[in-house]
Amino acid sequence: MLLGVNIDHIAVLREARKINDPDPLDAVPIARRAGAHQITIHLREDRRHINDDDAQKIIENSQIPVNLECAIDEQIIEKVLELKPHRATIVPEKREEVTTEGGLDLVKNFQTFKDVTTKLKDHGIAVSLFVDPNARSMELSKEIGADWVELHTGLYSNIYAMLYSNLPYTRHCIKELDLCRSELKVLLDRSIKDLQDSSRYANTLGLKVAAGHGLNYQNVKEIVTMEGIIELNIGQCIIARSVFTGLQKAITDMLELMR
Ligand code: PXP
Repeated sequence: MLLGVNIDHIAVLREARKINDPDPLDAVPIARRAGAHQITIHLREDRRHINDDDAQKIIENSQIPVNLECAIDEQIIEKVLELKPHRATIVPEKREEVTTEGGLDLVKNFQTFKDVTTKLKDHGIAVSLFVDPNARSMELSKEIGADWVELHTGLYSNIYAMLYSNLPYTRHCIKELDLCRSELKVLLDRSIKDLQDSSRYANTLGLKVAAGHGLNYQNVKEIVTMEGIIELNIGQCIIARSVFTGLQKAITDMLELMR
């Protein structure tokens, strides 16, 4: 199983101060030395975290593949063609959202997805589509010509978090929050089945399957054993944990200097 580490949140921290520290580029060799197989970054239309300069430097200097998430927007796609990452993962994007909410609607703008996929592939960039786990999305991804699908694990992650304690979760995927435990368990089992059925089906169609969104140190265990999924893209929980695993050293380094 491959791990793509999403380092957008390092740029989020930098942008909170609008300075140049921390630089997401510095995370690339660390991720590589730690054994990550891929760096994942999202070039958003509003450039709220990763900017063009970050993307360029990361793609030029990374010794492991770079997976660039992007929306189907014309200007962004032109930029992606220029940047030439190893893979482009097309994701739905709304300016007002905190993070990517739900998978792509491939029925709407089917031809645009097809045209953009062809263009990216003609430039030597592998294409992945970030989709909800259902059979129709797998079929449409195949028709569009994608190499990969990335299954959206947000719904699974949210239900998991609601069922098993006060783990972090966002509410966007679940409208009804006052479900009882048995109802949540049914929903969780269904979300696991949808992911498993979709990854198997995608494989039979010849698609490579990744998964991601909301995965963390608790809920990853169900996904990692799923047949057909060969890669996970994980960001938030790794960067969140790194704050605490690295905080003691950061403080002692400062105290040392002060002494
Ligand atoms: N995969 C895709 C397509 C995403 O959009 C994101 C979030 O940027 C992730 C994976 C990583 O999600 P998380 O930060 O919740 O681990």
